[in-house]
Amino acid sequence: MPGIVVVGAQWGDEGKGKVVDVFSSQAELVVRYQGGNNAGHTLVVNGQKTVLHLIPSGILHKKCQCIISGGVVLDPEVLIEEIKALKDKGLLKDPNHLKISDSATLIMPYHKIIDQSREEKLGREKIGTTGRGIGPAYEDRASRKAILFRDLFDSETLKQKLQLALEEKNFLIEHYFRKPTLKLDELHQKYFDFGQILKPFRIEDPGLVVATALSKKKKVLFEGAQGTLLDLNHGTYPYVTSSSTVAGSACTGVGIGPSQINKVIGITKAYTTRVGTGPFPTELNNEVGDLIQKKGAEFGATTGRRRRCGWLDLIALKYAVRVNGITSVALMKLDVLTGLPEIKVATAYDLDGRKITEFPTSADDLERVKPILKSFKGWTKDLSTVRKKSQLPKEARAYVDFIEKFVGVKADIISTGPDREETIWVKPLFKH
Ligand code: IMP
Repeated sequence: MPGIVVVGAQWGDEGKGKVVDVFSSQAELVVRYQGGNNAGHTLVVNGQKTVLHLIPSGILHKKCQCIISGGVVLDPEVLIEEIKALKDKGLLKDPNHLKISDSATLIMPYHKIIDQSREEKLGREKIGTTGRGIGPAYEDRASRKAILFRDLFDSETLKQKLQLALEEKNFLIEHYFRKPTLKLDELHQKYFDFGQILKPFRIEDPGLVVATALSKKKKVLFEGAQGTLLDLNHGTYPYVTSSSTVAGSACTGVGIGPSQINKVIGITKAYTTRVGTGPFPTELNNEVGDLIQKKGAEFGATTGRRRRCGWLDLIALKYAVRVNGITSVALMKLDVLTGLPEIKVATAYDLDGRKITEFPTSADDLERVKPILKSFKGWTKDLSTVRKKSQLPKEARAYVDFIEKFVGVKADIISTGPDREETIWVKPLFKH
């Protein structure tokens, strides 16, 4: 059972970092397949914090090779900072430890300017993007104008592509957004220099490495970024990111077939959070929401924004199980709910007076639904030392059992605190 996808089952920030970090110790390859530095997770290395946005957290495990695949949008400046931060901590000594696809799409300064300027123009209607240039970079990919990672190593090609890009982008920047334009020679020199720093990490076709590893039954972990409900096609469009975040994207992003994936682990919190704008049926705009936000330290690792908090939405989770083909879930941050006298979950929605039990595909409909909630009795016992499901307070067990039954898959992992040890391993990872 070597090919496992770890996918966010909500609106991102479900705690994939912790799960991937722990799993990486057992994996030979960890592959990031989509998104860019809109993602982020904080790792603690020798007591020091490192925030990674692009490099998979498997980088902390010496035997595990990390790959950034062609489905990723890559900001070279951010990548260089991350590499430096890891090297400063004595990590990433061997460039073979990290391989970056020649086909990855570059995020350029004009993408960031366009992303941020569009949001400014939209005002109250904004998407609430991370401002990292993700959408405009994927647009260039789709319109076949993208500058790719491989172009950084060929001065002439880089210059030609930049010139073409700047003709269009500078026009937009100057005449539509009314911002200062970018200069070709400066940009060319800067990015060519970035290429020289990043050259040792390049790889032509990581899909071949992954397929070969899988054929030899090596353990490969595919790390998703963001979450299902932010998927460009299956999320709450237009309040989504610009890549496909669902498990199937591991295949298209890396260049392997669906038959190579054996297991899909959906990561979900025991409640729900969302950053950015867009519908959120179970949102709690009250003191319970504030409490969850504080106790769960719900601030974005990338933008530092306060995350919106609410009850667990089982209609949304059931949808995520379906569109990803999730085979089991990792239930994160159960401990955050400790001490609440009552815990609720959404088991249906009321849409204009009609009860619905499937996730609406229209964000307008989702904006109008009212959640129909089921109530559970809370618990007070500290969960941080619990290592077996049977040791959970009976109220917490009833909560977990209900979730599993409702969505039709088991929780193989239950997280009861931020530390690696604060985890209930119901089932080993690389086994049926
Ligand atoms: P973008 O990906 O920066 O274009 O932002 C589009 C939407 O996705 C916004 O609502 C962001 O807040 C959200 N988003 C992007 N990346 C993440 C993430 O890693 N976690 C949670 N939300 C994200």
